[in-house]
Amino acid sequence: MNNHRNHYRQIFNYSAGPSLLPDTVLEQIERDLWDWNGTKSSIMEIGHRTDLFIDILNETKDILRKIMGIPNNYHILFLHGGARGQFAAVPLNLLNNKQADYINSGYWSKLAIDEAKKYGKINIACSGEKYNFNKLDEQNKWNLNPNASYVHMTYNETIKGVEYPFIPDTGDIPLVVDTTSNILSKEIDVTKFGIIYAGAQKNLGIAGVTIVIIRDDLLKKANNHCPSILDYSHQAKVNSFGNTPSTFPIYVSNLVAKWVDSVGGVAKIQKNNQTKAKKVYDCIDSSEFYINHVDKSWRSMVNVHFYVHDSKLENVFLEEAYKANLYYLKGHASSKGIRANMYNAAPIEYATKLVEFMTYFENKYG
Ligand SMILES: Cc1ncc(COP(=O)(O)O)c(C=O)c1O
Repeated sequence: MNNHRNHYRQIFNYSAGPSLLPDTVLEQIERDLWDWNGTKSSIMEIGHRTDLFIDILNETKDILRKIMGIPNNYHILFLHGGARGQFAAVPLNLLNNKQADYINSGYWSKLAIDEAKKYGKINIACSGEKYNFNKLDEQNKWNLNPNASYVHMTYNETIKGVEYPFIPDTGDIPLVVDTTSNILSKEIDVTKFGIIYAGAQKNLGIAGVTIVIIRDDLLKKANNHCPSILDYSHQAKVNSFGNTPSTFPIYVSNLVAKWVDSVGGVAKIQKNNQTKAKKVYDCIDSSEFYINHVDKSWRSMVNVHFYVHDSKLENVFLEEAYKANLYYLKGHASSKGIRANMYNAAPIEYATKLVEFMTYFENKYG
């Protein structure tokens, strides 16, 4: 097993998602592949209605409750359709012929807004457009509707690396948050939210399962046309068995959640993420060669996006980085530039190596 680690882990994987898994998780998967827990069956070959799988599902909920501090009046669901599925599920469950408030912080919020508009009236309570999505106004400038059925925010805009430095206060109106790129990356007070959702593929496992954490009073509100598969009450009632759940991705999330617990919980992960991000932002800020436009207090802890001052050098940067074993640093097509995604599983060495390379590259071409 360690041979695999030594052989394959010579590269640094900055992929935006699906992304790096902890070594110990990959090793466990490898061990379990043919024989899960003495069953002589792969985890992929076990029926979802067996006690064996139900135990995995329930254990995953228990660990998530522990590491995220999720109170008992919240259900945890494991659904299909990714975060984009939730862009539809949220209005189908909560809009109810009223109006919802959306905060437009960039690419992913805009997609959530476009999807929600298919189902009813959407008010853009705040948009970062005037700041080129490098920050948002303070909450006292937002145009929140006191009768909205919910407020939707994207906690971390993965593409440009823009993350809220605060959790908005929406009073009695449920706050719904997309945490696809920063779930488990920092401690949060779950009780501030009505719904927390995330595709698992960055910080909580692999593609194929979407975690929805929903406060009980928000169940039973779905519109009559809501497909059962997206209906939160139905899925809560049947323990996420609205159809065959994503058994293998749920099993991987189980391992990742246990890994978070074993390394010291979310507090420890947050500290590491802060350390990694600071190293790279310090490197950017100490030079005129690299540029990051995001307002300093809105900078993401897990997606560090930057440009090389001379854009012609960006491809050279990516090519040379690749040769130095730093993989998948190319920015998203919509923003271009360079993006270092350093999610929870990335050791601090990921930041150190990148800074070493950035310094070398600046010395060579600056
Ligand atoms: C913040 C955010 N929301 C939504 C998505 C879309 O996720 P999915 O592909 O699971 O629908 C992504 C994907 O990168 C994301 O980063």
